[in-house]
Amino acid sequence: MQSQQIRSTFIDFFTDRGHEHVRSSPLVPDDPTLLLANAGMNQFKPYYLGETPPPFPRAVSVQKCARTSDIENVGRTARHGTFFEMLGNFSFGDYFKSETIAYAYELVTKGYGLDPERLWATVYLDDDESIRMWERVGIPAERVQRLGKEDNFWSMGVPGPCGPNSELYYDRGPAFGPEGGPAVNDERYMEIWNLVFMQFGRGEGEGKTDYPILGELPMKGIDTGMGLERLAVILQDVENVCQTDLLAPTLHTVQELAGRGYPGSGAEKVSFQVVTEHARAMAFLIADGVMPSNEGRGYILRRLMRRAVRHGRLLGVEGPLLPAVTGSVIANLGTAWPELVEHAHLIEQVTHAEEESFGRTLRQGAKLLDAAVRRAKEQDAGTLSGETAFELHDTFGFPVELTLEAAHDAGLDVDEDRFAALLTAQQQRAKSGGKAKTAAALRRQEAYRDLVARHGRTDFLGYERLSAESTVLALLDEGEPVAAAGAGRQVELVLAATPFYAEGGGQVGDTGVLRTAGGAVLEITDTRRGLPGFHVHTARVTEGEIRAGEAAEAVVDARRRAAVARSHSATHVLHAVVRELLGNHAAQHGSLVDDGRLRFDFVHFSALSAGQLGELEARVNERLLADPEVRVWYADRAEAEQAGALALFGEKYEETVRIVDIGDFSRELCGGTHVTHGSQVGGLRIAGESSVGSNLRRIEAWTGHEALLSADRERTLLRELSGLLGARPEDAAEALRKRLDLLANAQADVERMRSAELAALAGTLAEKAEAMPGGMLVATRVDGVDAQELRRLASTVAQRLASGVGVVVLGTPHEGKALLASAVGSRLREQGIEAREVLAEAAAAIGGGAGGKGALASAGGRHVEKLGDALSLARASAAGVLSRSAR
Ligand code: ALA
Repeated sequence: MQSQQIRSTFIDFFTDRGHEHVRSSPLVPDDPTLLLANAGMNQFKPYYLGETPPPFPRAVSVQKCARTSDIENVGRTARHGTFFEMLGNFSFGDYFKSETIAYAYELVTKGYGLDPERLWATVYLDDDESIRMWERVGIPAERVQRLGKEDNFWSMGVPGPCGPNSELYYDRGPAFGPEGGPAVNDERYMEIWNLVFMQFGRGEGEGKTDYPILGELPMKGIDTGMGLERLAVILQDVENVCQTDLLAPTLHTVQELAGRGYPGSGAEKVSFQVVTEHARAMAFLIADGVMPSNEGRGYILRRLMRRAVRHGRLLGVEGPLLPAVTGSVIANLGTAWPELVEHAHLIEQVTHAEEESFGRTLRQGAKLLDAAVRRAKEQDAGTLSGETAFELHDTFGFPVELTLEAAHDAGLDVDEDRFAALLTAQQQRAKSGGKAKTAAALRRQEAYRDLVARHGRTDFLGYERLSAESTVLALLDEGEPVAAAGAGRQVELVLAATPFYAEGGGQVGDTGVLRTAGGAVLEITDTRRGLPGFHVHTARVTEGEIRAGEAAEAVVDARRRAAVARSHSATHVLHAVVRELLGNHAAQHGSLVDDGRLRFDFVHFSALSAGQLGELEARVNERLLADPEVRVWYADRAEAEQAGALALFGEKYEETVRIVDIGDFSRELCGGTHVTHGSQVGGLRIAGESSVGSNLRRIEAWTGHEALLSADRERTLLRELSGLLGARPEDAAEALRKRLDLLANAQADVERMRSAELAALAGTLAEKAEAMPGGMLVATRVDGVDAQELRRLASTVAQRLASGVGVVVLGTPHEGKALLASAVGSRLREQGIEAREVLAEAAAAIGGGAGGKGALASAGGRHVEKLGDALSLARASAAGVLSRSAR
């Protein structure tokens, strides 16, 4: 059975049984606690927690998932993948254990035709009820085993819903290992389906078992996950996932590039599987808007890409690998997942650029590593330090596996314990920063959830009006409800209805004023979404006392809202024009829509030229001044997509979406506030363009009044500059150029004079040289030179001394420091004498160290008063060097 049929059999089975077919969410979840979507239930988390009422009681989905915690196992076992498709059925307060177990058994035996005799199950510890149910449907108690929290209790790994589970296994037969059931061997007995009985809330905590359980969920339910890949392995009777129709074409591409066949075992087999599996994961991640970087999900992607390249090199693929293998993923899976085709160009560009930059990293790292290996050998050390390995890894992104390999080839060990310790310390530093934040955030979330459960979502009135009468539902201080707050207090404020826009879609939250019936006045400094559809106002009481339950009038700062609306409409127009000018790959990747200014990030592979920026600005303004109408309408999501509305990377949309059209050239899904006609924006001025990560560019711009004010600021600046130059503004550039030329000439004159002076001084010093046994010697103090001149002088004098057998030491006080320089003649150099030898003791006397190589050396120290002593010491060393060379 091909994978497409496995998917459709699953969907059909559950839609026939009253389940709503919900499409996969993007891999980048709408959940700040989670890096990447890791299970089908992620997008339903608010339903189980009671934050949002579920729009349907049952659902079925095929969810794109990524899990990279056991990345090292990928390619080593049949079942691990960094990316997989999870087939799941869900119940929100509807059916529970017995129906789930019956559905699962019926689907695998009838729908997929698996042999009932080869099915096994596991249950959580004393879950006798599930054992009885498995028995009832057809799996006898001998083939049901009990496992503990480690295996049979499931959570997302972050605070959220969790519960005991029961897993269904398939016995692949004795070729894959000994008997004894899944408790003994999970390669032979392969887990295919996990049925989770969602019952509890999980608190903050590390690890699979080490976290508090917070009590029963408001909405109990069912969450299941079946691995499409694993089922394909069984139904297509192959050994591992790379041989299923999901990945076989990609595996084939790798074989072609490597010019060798796929072996049945060994290290090469692992490399083939790593490249194949990671190619799919990276294609999906990029299609969902992740870009390689050094943190968060970007780092996960980067690791996958680099690991694939490294294994490609092990297979002898030196040339570009990633664009070709991801290309084959797109060709193979693009029908099931159209986003791959849509972003094919982006995937190609990003993989190409990253592979190239990793090539440079590898070359650079290899150089540093060679040097470190040479040093270790010179010092006769048998070990490369953990610090070196860590620096290579941390600063240069050089994989530690390569350090290990190269060190071993050179007969060196690597201090791996130290490396591991440094790595753990760094990871802990990174984690503890994030944790404090989450604790406070969690307390707030609890309070918000409670309020939504009691009062429902906020009634948002702000699309139509800027002021409204409402009721103060709650006041919160650091997440704790308070009954009242007096002047000076900072509180979070929740209203039954509000005209205040809550920050979202890049647009800043509204600010304004609230007046209560009891006479209190509050300044509202920000509005956020505490939960989806739930507005939280940050406020400061400026007069009187506010009480929970009071009536109040909320008034948005209309000037600011209008300025923000200008920026929002300008952002849509900019987005349209950027794509028009640069191509469709240049999709929006984040934005800030603010009072009079905007920031717009988008995908592109190189910096924009001044010409392109000028063109961009001109086209945006042309569009705006043509005064297109801004039209807002609502539709269901499928309709909106058919109508070509642009959805943004990483945003989650409800089933009914809001669409904003501007003229006939821009159509986006957007919940923000806008002007009604383009000309109200008043104009856009680009303030700058920069890079914000690989393949990500940022444009910053002024809009409306701020665009005018920014022009004004520039005019004032130009006036000031031209005033200083004594020229008219239009002549200022020419006047400045003339002056710079003059200045350059004057500087050249000064330098020529200074050179002549130093040459004369060098002559005088050379004449004063003393003849010593073995050669000429100059050791003296000079004044009024800087460090560079001192070195130049020493070197010139040394060249002038007869036949290159001479030593020169000069000293000078300069800016509160004692400086020394030494130089040796060419003949002494030929004998292997280093100028630095002469300075060793003298440098110590002035409190410094000597540096430099070959014929010239220098030193500097704080003890100016020791300059005389230092010169005497240097003189004695120089005399010693000369007499040694004479022998
Ligand atoms: N959420 C469960 C899992 O991921 C089904 O295994």
